[in-house]
Amino acid sequence: MYVLNTWYVAAWSNEVDRKPVKRVICEQPLVLFRTQNGTPVALADRCAHRAFPLSEGRTIGDSIECGYHGFTYGADGMCTKVPAQSTIPERAKVRKYPLVEKDGWIWAWMGDADLADPADVPDTHWMNDPEWATVTHSFHFKCRAGLIHDNLLDLTHESFLHKTTVGDDYIYEHGITVEVEGSVVSVDRLMPSVAAPPLYADTMDARGLFDRFHCTEFFVPNLHVLHSGITGEGRPREEGYLIKVLNGITPIDEHNSWYYYAFSRNFAVDDSQATEDLRVGLNTVLQEDAEALEAQEIGMQTRPAGEFDVLIAQDGGVAKARRILSTLLKREQAAAAARPVAGARA
Ligand code: FES
Ligand SMILES: [Fe+2]
Repeated sequence: MYVLNTWYVAAWSNEVDRKPVKRVICEQPLVLFRTQNGTPVALADRCAHRAFPLSEGRTIGDSIECGYHGFTYGADGMCTKVPAQSTIPERAKVRKYPLVEKDGWIWAWMGDADLADPADVPDTHWMNDPEWATVTHSFHFKCRAGLIHDNLLDLTHESFLHKTTVGDDYIYEHGITVEVEGSVVSVDRLMPSVAAPPLYADTMDARGLFDRFHCTEFFVPNLHVLHSGITGEGRPREEGYLIKVLNGITPIDEHNSWYYYAFSRNFAVDDSQATEDLRVGLNTVLQEDAEALEAQEIGMQTRPAGEFDVLIAQDGGVAKARRILSTLLKREQAAAAARPVAGARA
């Protein structure tokens, strides 16, 4: 059960070129490639002839040729060539998925193509802004997307799971403010007069006490933008050392997710050693998350029916996000049920 009428991060721009790339999103296999002028294309990764993955084939001009019997499809998904005969069967076509390429990510629209609006792709400009330096990672997390959402909406786990990097007991000692606007949930935590997190303190050259803040903005169901940082005690956040962490969460299936991660900072922007230290340190943080969430996924799968999460005050954002997700799902299901079935008689 996935929300399909939304944009999901499908790949980094630099992962997609002329050679076909396979991605599974919401249980739908896609093949991604670029046409000769560099436009990215996503088609269903299943040949109309006999379901061979097109990602095993090759691009020719702006088309892709199936590696099994050579059916060839244009960038619009229509078959243009059947090598063994001169006619092309009418049903020889594959689904084409709308794409948007922006700031280093390629987003795919997994639902009704008529509803795809590129303006709905959230703001990620920090990844591509020379005023900010960015470190990136991507992972296949062996867990359901919901566990990653919960993880990002409740950062008190940093106190325990990320003790040596970004954690400290003061995190869970401070409460949160939760706000909802449309399908965006914001969870804000202000931690006044505390030390900078160990992972960033050196890079920031931050000694003494600061006001630390986290504000996770979850664009349900696909992206978390974490606005965090430290600023002088009692000073406005904008004056401080700022971090924008973009977390593109894309379901593969019920038990697996793609995790596209970009960490942008407005300090030590030209310091390549700082970038390298952060790249290594953040990889440690994400590996700690991966291990915890994969263990939780096993916990979920072995949990007896009728046993549910015990939510506490710190889960205020988790609860709101789950409600929004469930509303979006119900809305899509109702719309799908109301749609006439192809071929059905009135
Ligand atoms: S399966 Fe693709 S051409 Fe036969
Ligand atoms: Fe974490």
